[in-house]
Amino acid sequence: MAWHDDQARRDELYRDPYPLYDRARRTEGLLYVPEFDAWLVARDQDVREVLLRAEDFSSAQALLPDVPLSEAALGVLPRGFGPRPTVVSSDGAAHRRHRAPLNRGLSASRVAALLPYARTCAEELVDAFAADGSAELVEAYARRLPGMVVGRLIGLDPAAVHGGYRAEELLFRPLSPQGQVAAAEDVVALQHLLDGYVRERRERPRADMCSTMVAALAPGDAELTLEQRHELVTSLQNLLIAGFLTTSALIGTMLLHLLGDRRQWRTLRADPSLVPAAVEEAVRHDTAIQAFRRTTTLPVTLAGTKLPAAATVLVAFGSANRDERRYERAGEFDITRPGNRQHLAFGYGAHGCPGSQLAREQLRLTLELLLRRMPGLRLDQDRPRPQMRPTLIHRSPQALYVTW
Ligand code: HEM
Repeated sequence: MAWHDDQARRDELYRDPYPLYDRARRTEGLLYVPEFDAWLVARDQDVREVLLRAEDFSSAQALLPDVPLSEAALGVLPRGFGPRPTVVSSDGAAHRRHRAPLNRGLSASRVAALLPYARTCAEELVDAFAADGSAELVEAYARRLPGMVVGRLIGLDPAAVHGGYRAEELLFRPLSPQGQVAAAEDVVALQHLLDGYVRERRERPRADMCSTMVAALAPGDAELTLEQRHELVTSLQNLLIAGFLTTSALIGTMLLHLLGDRRQWRTLRADPSLVPAAVEEAVRHDTAIQAFRRTTTLPVTLAGTKLPAAATVLVAFGSANRDERRYERAGEFDITRPGNRQHLAFGYGAHGCPGSQLAREQLRLTLELLLRRMPGLRLDQDRPRPQMRPTLIHRSPQALYVTW
C-alpha cells in the first residue's frame, strides 16, 4: 500500500513538476528533492553555470532510467550489446570523440537534405486520417513522423525504429514484470539488428549517419572488434532514442498547448508567419526533456550551497525556461512573446543538443501542414482533458483526441 502511495505521489510530481520548480527557484541555495534523489538546479543562471562547468559537473550519470529494472529483465539484457558510455554520458576528450560525427551528420545541409522526405512522410500520415473528421494524434502522427525521419537519417528500416520505442518503454515507463521482459527481449533484438547494420556499413559505407559513426568511432577498414561493435550499437541506440522520442513528445505537447487555448490557435491561423515563434514558445514553455543529471567531480559551491564530490544534481531545463528573472509572465504560453529563443530546452554548452535544428524543422512543418489541411482543428470536447505522462524524459500528453 505504502509503495502504491509513493508511486502515486511520484507520478503526480512527474506529471506536473512546475509547482516544485517554482518553489525551488524561490528557495535560497539549492533544494534537495528526495523523489529525485538529487539537488534540484532550478534557476536559469544556475542551470547555465552547471552546464558550462563541465569539468566540475560530470555527465557520466546524465541519464538514469525512470523505473528500476526487474531481475528477470536484467537477466535478458546481457544477450544484447552494451552498455557503453555514449555522447550523452561521456566527458572531455571521450565526449568530443563521440560528438564529432553527430555535428557532421546533423549539419544544416544534412538537415536541409532530409526535409523533403520529412514533408512527404508528414503528408502521408495526415492523408491516412484526414477524411475521418477525428483522430488521436499521438499515435497517428506524433509517434510516427520523427521515427521515420531519424530512421532515414541514420539509415535504418522501420523495424529498428520500432525497437527504439521499446527501449524507451523499458527505461522510462512502468511496465508489468512480463512487460519488462518482453521489452528487454525487443531491445536485445534491436541491438542485434543494429550490429548487423554496423557490420554491413563497415563493408559498404553509404551516405548515412550509421556509416558516419562507424568511420568516426572505429577509423580504418579492419574488421570491427567486439568492443567496437558494442560501442557503435550503444551509440546508435542512444541516437535513435534521442532523435525520435524527444521530437514525438514535443509535437504532442506543442499541439496540446496550441489547441488547449483556442486564442493561440486562432492567432496562428490568422498569421502563419508566427509558426517559428509558436514552435519556440512551445519548446520553451513545456519542453520534452525536463531535466538531466550531473555528478560533481570535486567539492563545489553552487548558488551558495556547498556540495561534496560525487553529489548528484538534477539540471532542470524545464524550470530554467520558466524563470521569472528571464521571462515576463514566464508561466504563460504566448506565441507572440518576444525574445523566447534564449531558452534552455536544447541544453547549453558542450552537450547542447546537436539535433535541435532537425527537431525545430519537424515541429514547424507539422504546424504548417495542420494549419493548411485542418484549420478547424480542436481538442475533442467529448473526451477528458489530456493527461501528461508521468516522466521528466519525453514529457508528452498520453493521448491527444482531436476533431476538425
Ligand atoms: C524537441 C526535441 C528535442 C529536445 C527537447 C532535445 C533536448 C536535448 C537536450 C536538453 C540535450 C542536452 C543533454 C545534456 O545536457 O546532458 C540534448 C542532447 C542531445 N540531443 Fe537532443 N533534443 C531534441 C531532439 C533531438 C534530435 C532530433 C536529435 C538527433 C537526431 C537529438 C540528439 C541529441 C544528442 C545526440 C544529444 C547528446 C549531445 C551531447 O551529449 O553532446 N536531439 N537534447
